[in-house]
Amino acid sequence: HKLLLVNGVNLNLLGKREPDIYGHMTLADIEQHLIDRAANYGVKLICIQSNHEGKLVDDIQHYGLLADRAAQVDAIIINPAAFTHTSVALRDALLATQKPFIEVHLSNVHAREAFRQHSYLSDIATGVICGLGHRGYQMALDYWLTNMYAINL
Ligand code: DQA
Repeated sequence: HKLLLVNGVNLNLLGKREPDIYGHMTLADIEQHLIDRAANYGVKLICIQSNHEGKLVDDIQHYGLLADRAAQVDAIIINPAAFTHTSVALRDALLATQKPFIEVHLSNVHAREAFRQHSYLSDIATGVICGLGHRGYQMALDYWLTNMYAINL
């Protein structure tokens, strides 16, 4: 059982970056918490972050389309950050994998600037979680634990 967590541009700065909007937890804290929670249920959570769109495309292709099908991830959780609003390439990479994904945003993008209200991913996502801070990631993880693996939480 394998899941992929993808974080996009500037999310390496979590904890320091506009903490009133994005919170005080670092990305490493968030990832470790989710890795531990997944591991408790026998699920491996692979975590990647990059500020480079092409690197994220490479990683999504890699983990989603490994030649050994059994080694592929079963589903994805992604906060593409600013790439949400710009990236046809990430959309196409996710579609190419044919893996279901949940889109997560820490902030409520609908309560912010107009340019944050369009996402290139939402219409092809299984679901979208926004505005619930770091807890949104755990909610997405719990969704896959129950709905992908039928684990009783
Ligand atoms: C974000 C929202 C995006 O609009 C923004 O560019 C980010 C983070 C969020 O998690 O709230 O970098 O995805």
